[in-house]
Amino acid sequence: MPQTILVTGGAGFIGSNFVHHWRRQHPDDVILVLDKLTYAADTKQLEGIANLNLVVGDVQNLELVRHLIEHHGITKVFHLAAESHVDRSITGPASFIQTNLVGTFTMLEAARQAWAGDATCRFLHISTDEVYGSLGDTGKFHEAMAYAPNSPYSASKAGSDHLVRAYHHTFGLNVVTTNCSNNYGPRQHPEKLIPLAITRMAKGEPIPIYGDGQNVRDWLYVEDHCSALETVMLKGVAGETYCVGGDNEQKNLDLVDLLCDSVDVHLGRTVGTSRKLKTFVQDRAGHDRRYAIDATKIQTELGWKPATTFADGLKRTIAFYLP
Ligand SMILES: NC(=O)c1ccc[n+]([C@@H]2O[C@H](COP(=O)([O-])OP(=O)(O)OC[C@H]3O[C@@H](n4cnc5c(N)ncnc54)[C@H](O)[C@@H]3O)[C@@H](O)[C@H]2O)c1
Repeated sequence: MPQTILVTGGAGFIGSNFVHHWRRQHPDDVILVLDKLTYAADTKQLEGIANLNLVVGDVQNLELVRHLIEHHGITKVFHLAAESHVDRSITGPASFIQTNLVGTFTMLEAARQAWAGDATCRFLHISTDEVYGSLGDTGKFHEAMAYAPNSPYSASKAGSDHLVRAYHHTFGLNVVTTNCSNNYGPRQHPEKLIPLAITRMAKGEPIPIYGDGQNVRDWLYVEDHCSALETVMLKGVAGETYCVGGDNEQKNLDLVDLLCDSVDVHLGRTVGTSRKLKTFVQDRAGHDRRYAIDATKIQTELGWKPATTFADGLKRTIAFYLP
């Protein structure tokens, strides 16, 4: 049955990739995007998508969100809207608390009011692995782990996860939450490491690397994250959380070296040219050392697994930024 889904933050990086994904998988559905169009949004990413309506508005607007859910008969909410850049949360945390914490509260409250106990309606909250804090050299994040957020960004996301949990336990709202590792791929804002490095390499400009470059992240191709979101919405168990990751740990320095060589090949330059642009800069305050995800639960219980190799994902990403 064709339906209308609501995607918040659909003009951002993961949201716009998700909208393209849902369009391919569910061609008859109408997609309603609610987005405030902050600096991180790019409406060009949504151009040409059939049956898509963009509502410019704030997730903190209770009346607007409740009206959208009621008026369009929304039974599935994908909540991605957020302030997402850790560095910005250090220099200006207020908007992170407003959008990520108050905004998620408002979304939950609007859904609770509009759905009035109808358990067939579902709210998917998209969160991050950063809520678990930082790992040592071994071990991986998993769903049973205690939260230990270290940045204003991760703390605001952790708070929003707790609100989602509380709305399930207190009000019976049908919620599911995903905690995903670092995403990469097309349509990401150029402030983030991979697009920043690619565009700097192309221009021959310095590539900043925080601290000693030994921080580890588990990189997942954005399209694989999108398929995980679809899987959790359609098959996840109400009230549960799912860790999503690519089993692809990379030290930042190794990742940049790989990118340098791949960009050199892509541009037909001598391999080694871009590596000379690497510039070590003062470390981010409170920089978490290592993230890694154990995605056994979503893999075994819901049958999801990533489909894109790191080599292939990077090739596609470079081709997007340097066509
Ligand atoms: N990027 C990652 O690696 C990653 C990993 C795991 C989880 N996440 C989560 O996924 C979600 C999307 O991340 P992203 O990287 O696409 O972020 P993004 O910064 O690229 O996009 C965020 C979008 O939300 C919109 N937005 C911001 N404030 C809003 C508000 N008050 N009301 C309505 N819209 C608003 C912005 O305009 C933008 O379009 C976030 O919740 C983030 O925490 C991201």
